[in-house]
Amino acid sequence: MMFLFSKPPDPFAMTDLKPLSRSLSDSATRRLSRSLSDSATRRLSVPELTAMKQRGEKITCLTAYDAGFARVLEDNGVDVLLVGDSLGMVVQGHASTLPVGMDDMVYHCAAVSRASRRALVVADLPFMSYSTSEQAAANAARLLQQGGAHMVKLEGGYRRAAVVHHLVDQGIPVCGHLGLLPQSIHQLGGYKVQGKTEKEAERLIEEASLLEETGISLLVLECIPAALAAEITAQLRIPTIGIGAGNYCDGQVLVLYDMLGLTPNMPRFCRDFLHGADGIAGAVANYVAAVRSGQFPDAEHSY
Ligand code: KIV
Repeated sequence: MMFLFSKPPDPFAMTDLKPLSRSLSDSATRRLSRSLSDSATRRLSVPELTAMKQRGEKITCLTAYDAGFARVLEDNGVDVLLVGDSLGMVVQGHASTLPVGMDDMVYHCAAVSRASRRALVVADLPFMSYSTSEQAAANAARLLQQGGAHMVKLEGGYRRAAVVHHLVDQGIPVCGHLGLLPQSIHQLGGYKVQGKTEKEAERLIEEASLLEETGISLLVLECIPAALAAEITAQLRIPTIGIGAGNYCDGQVLVLYDMLGLTPNMPRFCRDFLHGADGIAGAVANYVAAVRSGQFPDAEHSY
């Protein structure tokens, strides 16, 4: 029992490598050092996101559309990079996400995943790319194989259950998206808060449960009252990621261009993190710290 009276070296502390290396050859020390630094940059997995929820650790997510921003986001602690079809609005200048196609998504997703080492990369299936299970599987496969994504996201509840089931059956991790659904903007009649009536709230609670039972690994809740998001978050084992859904969600996401103050009509739930920050990296670091500490979103940025 060599360590009975003295503290054993912490195998994960790089500073403890020197004494250890006295008994190891140079090449073994190099191998050990490489494997320790690999574990520090190891890719975040789906089970690890669930474990973060269980530990009460907030998950940080931002949208990313290119390699340069992906690197800055990841270097400053963002856990999940969402290649959102919001790129249609903030990058391409369209009035909605509807014109975005599969080629656009694969192009931007590949740029993001080439730069990423640690974050989980989630890519949106764009409008009309998942109308049938077969079409959804073919397009999700493109996002994983050509775009390097680790998970795909799709919008909707009851009407998406069969598609979600089929994707999960093929081993493709799926992120659901409930509340304000930008791809259904013409049905919804505008970018408005959802789930305000008891009936709508009940429907969202049921849809969240159904999606979880069907096999989604993550759920984005967009623009719904904070109390409703809290109820959904409490009832699910999988993590919820809120945007305009209060701070009881297991994590938060914002559109990168919104949180950098680049969007002319910033949504009420968003904060300009670049304002007063030390450049873009500073803005991202401030966002990550505010989400992790539960300071963002506050009541002013919730419904
Ligand atoms: O496309 C996107 O950026 C999104 C977020 C709004 C969650 O889906």
